[in-house]
Amino acid sequence: MRKIIIAIDGYSSSGKSSFAKNIAKKYGYIFIDTGAMYRAVTYYAMQNGLVDSHGSVYEDKLIENLPNIKITFRYDPVTEASSIFLNGVKIDEEIRSVDVSDKVAVVSSIPQVRERLVALQREMGRDKGIVMDGRDIGTVVFPDADLKIFMTADPEIRAMRRYRELSQAGKKVSLEEITQNILKRDNADITRTVGPLKKAEDALLLDNSRMSLEQQMLWVSEKIDKLIK
Ligand code: DC
Repeated sequence: MRKIIIAIDGYSSSGKSSFAKNIAKKYGYIFIDTGAMYRAVTYYAMQNGLVDSHGSVYEDKLIENLPNIKITFRYDPVTEASSIFLNGVKIDEEIRSVDVSDKVAVVSSIPQVRERLVALQREMGRDKGIVMDGRDIGTVVFPDADLKIFMTADPEIRAMRRYRELSQAGKKVSLEEITQNILKRDNADITRTVGPLKKAEDALLLDNSRMSLEQQMLWVSEKIDKLIK
């Protein structure tokens, strides 16, 4: 069977990662959550005093430190989940904090950060057989991807999804706080000069506001099956 590259882009909390993870599981593909990579760099900046108390990032210092940031993913066949490591330390939980979510927009707008992560992402997809989700995968990282999907859902539905996710993980957050964070990130994603969130012309639009994961899988499997046979 032919191995392909599947690029999934879309708004924050539109369900990209769950969808991409399921596709990867079904087809035995590698799943890469590029949002986690931008979050990892943000977390590194926060841990190393490169963010001040007002949330401003010391860009020059962060750029200088980029060679010291090593991001890797490791798949655990027992839990069937992959974890992200920053310089060898697992940081799955840390990167999901509201604090990181608040600062990631600034970090991901730094061209040098994007340049480095895009290069790493291309390297990860060299052998194909990959599902990558993010904001600029179909437009910048893999403009020649075999299948491109652009995901969206109503903002209030996205906010509720993130709220449930965080609450289930035992985090104390308010729906209002989450909604504001999502709207702020939508704006930052769309208006960023480098690698903005934009539907690639040849991407298929998927609005999953009223779709279950099973329905989304049926929709996408039909397309993938045609491409790999
Ligand atoms: O998918 P997420 O919400 O975990 O992504 C975190 C942030 O990273 C999001 O605010 C936008 C940014 N991001 C990006 O700029 N480019 C990507 N390819 C993926 C994420």
